[in-house]
Amino acid sequence: MNKKKSESGFTGQLGFVLAAAGSAVGVGNIWRFPYLAAKDGGGLFILIYLILVVTFGFTLLTSDIAIGRKTKQSSIKAYETMKPGWGFLGKLTFLVPVLIMTYYAVIGGWITRYILVYVTGMMHAAAGDTFFSDFITSTTSPVIYSLFFMLLTAWIIYRGVQDGIEKISRIVMPILLVMIIGIAVYAMTLSYTSNGATRTGLDGLRVYLTVDLSGMTVQKFLQVMLDAMSQLFFSLSVSMGIMITYGSYVKNDVNLGKAVTQIEVFDTVVALLAGMMIIPSIYVFSGMAGMQAGPGLMFVSLPKVFDAMGTPGIFVGLAFFIMSAFAALTSCISVLEAITANCIQIFDKPRESVTKVLAVIYSIASVIVTLGYSIFYFDVTLPTGAHGQLLDVMDYISNSFLMPLISFLSAILIGWIVKPEWIIGEMERNGEKFRRKKLYAFMIKYIVPVIMMVLFLESAGFFN
Ligand code: PHE
Repeated sequence: MNKKKSESGFTGQLGFVLAAAGSAVGVGNIWRFPYLAAKDGGGLFILIYLILVVTFGFTLLTSDIAIGRKTKQSSIKAYETMKPGWGFLGKLTFLVPVLIMTYYAVIGGWITRYILVYVTGMMHAAAGDTFFSDFITSTTSPVIYSLFFMLLTAWIIYRGVQDGIEKISRIVMPILLVMIIGIAVYAMTLSYTSNGATRTGLDGLRVYLTVDLSGMTVQKFLQVMLDAMSQLFFSLSVSMGIMITYGSYVKNDVNLGKAVTQIEVFDTVVALLAGMMIIPSIYVFSGMAGMQAGPGLMFVSLPKVFDAMGTPGIFVGLAFFIMSAFAALTSCISVLEAITANCIQIFDKPRESVTKVLAVIYSIASVIVTLGYSIFYFDVTLPTGAHGQLLDVMDYISNSFLMPLISFLSAILIGWIVKPEWIIGEMERNGEKFRRKKLYAFMIKYIVPVIMMVLFLESAGFFN
């Protein structure tokens, strides 16, 4: 392989936007956003989410990408380059992908298993109550799927930024978009009659979009805000060094302001469409009672819905899991790339050797986390009060605990130490106008630090 080519970064704006959107669009958009929207009053959650996208999301995504392109470094060296003495923040940031990578391929493996369910005519069996739990608690088959997904990811990273990451993103992201639009439109046409009452997809759409304020209290409203906020950060893959790494591969002549907007639009549209496809489908066949949190939604509730559709369900289910696998794969490669890029810089070794070593380490880690549901099972209570296994612990440390802390520290660094002009200058590098610069400076100095502190304290169990 041509080494120079693989390290020269993205070809241009489109390649970068699709790769970054690939990172942003993941299982979070598909299983977390619809679930939270259903739980938090539909339209109200969506409204708050949209406001946060154009304020917080925009600020954090702009910061990460501009830091990457200006320093041309991955997180560990980027922060040290920004301000000597702040390398510790780079190390802290590096920890997030290091932890996420232990479980992301595991989820990718589960999704791959479900593609095969629909290919091999097991749709009805998969709708059984215990199909998913039987699968993840067995000790061989989920291990094989995790390893497959892990090695596929490593192979793409091995091929490099242009020939691996950009190429795959250019192929799968447009297909993903077409598929999710197709399923969402199909969901609108559904209808089902039970006990004399007919529920249609359009009724479900109304449930999804209506602002439901019944029983709203201040405390509930704050919970909706917190849910929307943490969903947003997770969804945009910010504050974990990933967008810094991707930003470091962007050519100097790319208009970063436009790129940030395009990435946000892509991510948000997919999340909204996921809600449009999932909430009405579940509503039609089982009322809102079928809405489960997290993996249960994707692997338990939806297979029941596909089964209830009859023959079309085979195709809808297959399309759904292929699309989800694409979403998970492009996210997983961004996580591994963030680790790889840092390791290339720290150890000064070629991409090929770094990838091989990481593939071995993470294959072992994925196997252990996969077996966290069987051999290595334990139950812990997290500071938030929720219960979890190995996967949830990794998820809690990386997303709930580290991310707000990193956002807080990075906002202090940008807002008060190097000053927002440092970022704004990079956004206007080619003489383009960074239109929302006043909003950016205000957010990064005042709003982001305060809110991140609140989020961090909440995750640490301070308000329980
Ligand atoms: N942004 C991805 C999603 O919404 C999740 C993700 C987080 C991906 C961190 C990579 C890294 O699913």
